[in-house]
Amino acid sequence: PQRSDFVVVANRLPVVGEPTESGEPSWRRSPGGLVTALEPVLRRAQGVWIGWAGECDRRTAPFSHDGMRVHPVSLSARELASYYEGFSNATVWPLFHDTIVPPTLDRGWWQSYVQVNTRFAEAAALAAAPGATVWVHDYQLLLVPAMLRTLRPDVTIGFFLHIPFPPEELFMQLPWWTEIIDGMLGADLVGFQLPRDAENFRRTAAIRGSAIDPPGADAIGRIHVGGRVAWTGAFPVAVDAAGLTTLATSAAVRGRARRIRAELGQPDTVILSVDRLDYTKGIPERLAALDALYKQGRLIPGRHATVQIVTPSRERIPQYRELRRRIEIEVGHINGAYGALGRPAVHYLHRSVGREELAAFLVATDLMLVTPLRDGMNLVAKEYAACHPDADGALILSEFAGAAAELHGAYLVNPYDTDRLASTVDAVLNDPVAQRSRRMDTMHRQVRRHDVHAWARSYLGVLHRARAGRTVLG
Ligand code: G6P
Repeated sequence: PQRSDFVVVANRLPVVGEPTESGEPSWRRSPGGLVTALEPVLRRAQGVWIGWAGECDRRTAPFSHDGMRVHPVSLSARELASYYEGFSNATVWPLFHDTIVPPTLDRGWWQSYVQVNTRFAEAAALAAAPGATVWVHDYQLLLVPAMLRTLRPDVTIGFFLHIPFPPEELFMQLPWWTEIIDGMLGADLVGFQLPRDAENFRRTAAIRGSAIDPPGADAIGRIHVGGRVAWTGAFPVAVDAAGLTTLATSAAVRGRARRIRAELGQPDTVILSVDRLDYTKGIPERLAALDALYKQGRLIPGRHATVQIVTPSRERIPQYRELRRRIEIEVGHINGAYGALGRPAVHYLHRSVGREELAAFLVATDLMLVTPLRDGMNLVAKEYAACHPDADGALILSEFAGAAAELHGAYLVNPYDTDRLASTVDAVLNDPVAQRSRRMDTMHRQVRRHDVHAWARSYLGVLHRARAGRTVLG
């Protein structure tokens, strides 16, 4: 097969398949930010993307979609349960998010994780041309960098973790933490969302026995591992802000935004949350605050319309099912207690929404609530800012979202403090328009300046410096 100078390895492919009558799925590009960021780089370098085809997994051979080369990696039903739903999403995910729910430790899951990571590393080793750059993504593939280095010492390996990296006292609960650190250290550059994540990682690597050079003027830390140096740094991920602004100001989206407000009964204020249905997102805590606000008459159905969109996620994992049940009971309770005929207090949608529809919701919204208990970044917060070039709207943001470090115009809250969350909603709605709009303007400019293309450029720039450094060290 044809080899590439640039290879992306991620659990999910950049395309999603839809079943068709012929049996062959029809593919379309996924809406995610990562795809937007890497698509131009992939096209330029005729790169290839290695990943799992998700629900449309049917052992498909490599193919091209709209000029993007795609190598599907297949998972068996057992691997889906043990590597994806098990170790990735019921062990690593909760552990790396501060054990909001207790992680499950299962040796069989771990073995499956090792096996599937090996398969991804082998696929990358086959796809990479001599001296190629391979960029591995996220917590499902923590072992791939070292595995790939063993198979292909000639390639430059980047790794980026999209979720938080926990403090060592949590991380070391994992019986396999040394294997995981060693796996990540196989990369030439280990990238994180925030300096704090990189710092946690370096501390753990030091416990493992590596010598550490803390970040200097270039903000890059260096970890000495067996005669090599792995670089570490923070590269906060971003959104396709220009694309979103264009979409948000298009006639179609503006029109749809007006219709959304009409469908909501022309309220004075639209309050919105959009989350993947996940226990990290703080949805019950937010609903508790809304409950208090409606109960005390500080929000009034009809005048204030609250919309909660949750997109289905990882639905076979018990904690996710349980969370859905909890949310739906609470929404039912709020509407039963404070709604009126044709005027629910919380408009609840449990479904995925396309990029255009999401943009319309963001445009239609006066106050966005993003209140995760823990979040590596949170891109919806940045998308909201990108969709408000006219500086209308306001954002309440959890201080535990990575985005809080950059979105200085947001009203920051502690999502565990539901009283304060409720009073902040009240306060924001009563804030002078000029002040709100100054805050929004700051955020809009920030997300435009540091967009997803700048993110990819800056990461790949440092990765290439790391490679040059490696050559010099010989
Ligand atoms: C988070 C992770 C991604 C993941 C996404 C959706 O953003 O960082 O790696 O793809 O959630 O989750 P899913 O399990 O559906 O891929």
